[in-house]
Amino acid sequence: MEVQHRLRLLSRIIGMKGPIICRAIVTVTQRSGQSYTVGRHLPPTWRGGASAGWCRSFSDVSARTCTALVYRKHGDPPEVVQSENMELPLMGEKSVLVKMLAAPINPSDINMVQGTYAILPDLPAVGGNEGVGQVLEVGSQVTSLKPGDWVIPRDAGLGTWRTTAVFNEVSLAEVPRDIPLLAAATLGVNPCTAYRMLSDFEALKPGDSVIQNAANSGVGQAVIQIAAARGIHTINVVRDRPGVQQLSDRLLAMGASHVIKEETLRQPEMKDFFKKCPRPKLALNAVGGKSATELLRHLQGGGTMVTYGGMAKQPVTVPVSSLIFKDVKVRGFWVTQWKRDHAHDERALSEMLAQLAALIREGKLTAPACSEVGLQDFRGALDRAMQPYMSAKQILVM
Ligand SMILES: NC(=O)c1ccc[n+]([C@@H]2O[C@H](COP(=O)([O-])OP(=O)(O)OC[C@H]3O[C@@H](n4cnc5c(N)ncnc54)[C@H](OP(=O)(O)O)[C@@H]3O)[C@@H](O)[C@H]2O)c1
Repeated sequence: MEVQHRLRLLSRIIGMKGPIICRAIVTVTQRSGQSYTVGRHLPPTWRGGASAGWCRSFSDVSARTCTALVYRKHGDPPEVVQSENMELPLMGEKSVLVKMLAAPINPSDINMVQGTYAILPDLPAVGGNEGVGQVLEVGSQVTSLKPGDWVIPRDAGLGTWRTTAVFNEVSLAEVPRDIPLLAAATLGVNPCTAYRMLSDFEALKPGDSVIQNAANSGVGQAVIQIAAARGIHTINVVRDRPGVQQLSDRLLAMGASHVIKEETLRQPEMKDFFKKCPRPKLALNAVGGKSATELLRHLQGGGTMVTYGGMAKQPVTVPVSSLIFKDVKVRGFWVTQWKRDHAHDERALSEMLAQLAALIREGKLTAPACSEVGLQDFRGALDRAMQPYMSAKQILVM
């Protein structure tokens, strides 16, 4: 309060706006030793909507602030991401003030901070592309949302690792409040990816089978559960590790039909395996390299392999025989592109979210295995999110 009072006093004395005032704010902040606001010469907005309105006019000195996980340069996430206090932009007619509740750390978030992802916000940027928040306040022209609603981002790049944000109405989708918080926080990316890949590439019927690698990933767990709900068998490939039996048991309890270690895929015993289980029509590849090649070898003639991730950072090699003798189709999928392609088709997204929420309510789809971490402990969470064999999604809770 002391700092706010001094800023208001200063505003009355000087009566000026702009960068000079921002410098004044920094001075007061530094002298006070409190981080009331971070007023630096930064652009008021940056592409991708992760903007924060860093340096506001003097009439706005009593503006609301938030804590956000910000990166000012690309690099190793635990090193370059820092917690900062910052001002929120003023509310406009179409603005929605959102209190973030929980936001996961996904591989794409890590890649964005590293600077290796396909789309990158201008820097500085707030991290996080996914999460759930609660609407606190809406602008006068907002029609689709009201205070109390739960919302998730419609697109990537919103910057969700923060306590509070002012977003535009069009960048948010409502999600029901009667589903568990962690399921809502992780609904918009991985279950949507799993849902689309199981729906849009092959006409799968009950009794058909799907093979996937990285089966213990967030997407993999959603694939297992959505497929099980549709009566589709899943052949789930995981990397060997200490405790692989517990992991396998967990995936089987979730609805996996089979769990197989990567090495086993290359063994002759797979011939016997496919006497009991139909060869898959669809393969889902999040890894690349040899793992993807093995998935292709086991596909049904005419089947499709969809690549949606490249965790091994190795290219996909397609055996010539798979093309000539089995005429397999090799495709890719990116949920961000799907959402952009359907941005004007409100029903497509809302129907998918409604169906996924229904599965959650029925207990057929759960949040991925995860660890809840306080926002202040973000560094450890970022570090763990990059470790192999974690089998637990790091979810920041605000
Ligand atoms: N295209 C899209 O629209 C879309 C949407 C969502 C996600 N994705 C991508 O899908 C992948 C999974 O995302 P997620 O959020 O579900 O992941 P996650 O829950 O964080 O799990 C990561 C998965 O990657 C595996 N993995 C990590 N490094 C690996 C390596 N070097 N070789 C083989 N496997 C490795 C892990 O297996 P271990 O347990 O064995 O370490 C784990 O199964 C990521 O590449 C992500 O970017 C794409």
